[in-house]
Amino acid sequence: MIIKKIEEWYTSKRVTDITTIIGNTGYGKTYCAGKLEELYMEKKWPLVIIDNKGIHFVIRAEYDELVIVGGDRADYNLEQIDELLPLLLEHDINFLLDVSELPEIDQADYVEGFFEYMYEWHKENRKPKNYVIEECDMFIGQTGSPKGVRNMIIKCITKGRMDGFGFTLLSQRYRMIDKTPLGQTKNYIVFNMKWPLDLSTLMKLIGEDVSSKVRRLRVGQCLIMNDEGFDKYNVGKKKSPDEAVTPEVGVELIDIEIKPLSEKIRKLLERD
Ligand SMILES: Nc1ncnc2c1ncn2[C@@H]1O[C@H](COP(=O)(O)OP(=O)(O)OP(=O)(O)O)[C@@H](O)[C@H]1O
Ligand SMILES: [Mg+2]
Repeated sequence: MIIKKIEEWYTSKRVTDITTIIGNTGYGKTYCAGKLEELYMEKKWPLVIIDNKGIHFVIRAEYDELVIVGGDRADYNLEQIDELLPLLLEHDINFLLDVSELPEIDQADYVEGFFEYMYEWHKENRKPKNYVIEECDMFIGQTGSPKGVRNMIIKCITKGRMDGFGFTLLSQRYRMIDKTPLGQTKNYIVFNMKWPLDLSTLMKLIGEDVSSKVRRLRVGQCLIMNDEGFDKYNVGKKKSPDEAVTPEVGVELIDIEIKPLSEKIRKLLERD
């Protein structure tokens, strides 16, 4: 059987979809998000990445037009967001909010404030934008995530489609995500999963039992399911290096070098 490539499936129509990426640890969710992020940069589609783990900066090893706010590799720090955000939006610049340096409770507050602003911006501008949220259960978890941030993101998901909101939500388990965003999901990108409870949730969501197929998926392979049915896909190799690599005994982790921010973008952001 010929397995399809994920970029053949992912067209510009997906930008305003709600897509969840689910699967056991180490089977390629973050890698897949990275591959999609590269596609956004290549095609010049509008993208925001919310990263609480400090791993998505690697995209800057290849693409110098994505601005990094916060984290070890920041172009600008998180406190600068108030001045920065209107300019980023005015010039349609893609950016990464790396909140990994903050304690969890402050991450939630920060992300809540960010989406509060974006909700109003989308209402006014009605432009498409996709938000990749790494470890989304930290913000829209079924339990544990603070109410404020959860309600804010759910509001963007449930009321925001007409205004251009799209989401790509990553998590290890269905049961970790609040039911509302899960029910609103259009595309399920599923990597290897073993938990019977999660496999039965998947069956309920898509109305078909694909457990045996899901259990057999190898690293970098996924099933994509939506109203059109389901198919198996290969994520394939991305261009930028891998930050989420598993440490191995005797193998030294390499320090990933990133490109300086594009001069053109820096000038737009520092015009006054
Ligand atoms: N498409 C792929 N091609 C090549 N290698 C891959 C691919 N997908 C994943 N890998 C390898 O598997 C490792 C783990 O992948 P990744 O970090 O995406 O897992 P994950 O599902 O996000 O796990 P976690 O839930 O722990 O965050 C990567 O560091 C990479 O080495
Ligand atoms: Mg991951």
